[in-house]
Amino acid sequence: MMTPDPAAIARQHAETSRLLGVDFVPVFGGGEFQSAGVAPAPTPDPTPPPASTPTAPPAQVIETKPASAPESKPRRKLAASAEDRMGELRARYERDAPHANFVTDFTNIVWGDGDPSASLMFIGEAPGAEEDKTGVPFVGRAGQLLNKMIDAMGLSREQVYIANVLKTRPPNNATPTADEAAACAPYLYEQISIVAPDAIVTLGLPASRTILSSNESMGRLRGRWHAFHDEHSGRSIPVMPTYHPAFLLRSYTPENRSKVWSDLKQVMELLNLQEAR
Ligand code: URA
Repeated sequence: MMTPDPAAIARQHAETSRLLGVDFVPVFGGGEFQSAGVAPAPTPDPTPPPASTPTAPPAQVIETKPASAPESKPRRKLAASAEDRMGELRARYERDAPHANFVTDFTNIVWGDGDPSASLMFIGEAPGAEEDKTGVPFVGRAGQLLNKMIDAMGLSREQVYIANVLKTRPPNNATPTADEAAACAPYLYEQISIVAPDAIVTLGLPASRTILSSNESMGRLRGRWHAFHDEHSGRSIPVMPTYHPAFLLRSYTPENRSKVWSDLKQVMELLNLQEAR
């Protein structure tokens, strides 16, 4: 019997991944994913949900793709004013300090990162250790994977806006409770209003539930268009929930990767983005 050639297997795996559209994460020997020391260990579902959902603006499920790509904003003109408004909102958040009621264990407020007038916004759940240290969202391992996902969509991290439901690290990286999410959600909704993106990607269950006011599981929410109603502007913004990159790192199966990629491809189609080659 012939001994399998590891290089050929690696090439085959890489090609399968490419065809599945999941090449934003190398999976073959010596690739970035392996060198990051990640040991894939399937877990049944992403992070557990908050006990209940915070009050959010009414959300809709859109059964098909939103009819047409949303109107493009005159981004440059908006950028300066978005920057100012974001600064003012952050200052108000710091004065209000909603986290003072529940968080005892953080170093830096992690407000947001990227272009405050971006057409695409990603929303995660809460800062982890690296984010707490740096004050920047998604800079740890999950953040590196998110960067690859963004790159694969033909964008750079600087071209999107990234925020979290909670702006401060929960002790022991606990999943935000419903009360914590509810206390911080109004600031996130205002961040969305300032960015006024053409689409939102929610990463994982806490973010998806906070934005969509839904108690559905991630498996049922992901892969379909929903809508976030921005009360400030009256706009309805298309929302695509997908698995959190941290979940993907823990449960790194071809099936999960291709699900995430297919979710992102729907977003790319809506925004007329070309896959990075
Ligand atoms: N996970 C999140 O949800 N947000 C971050 O900023 C980092 C990890």
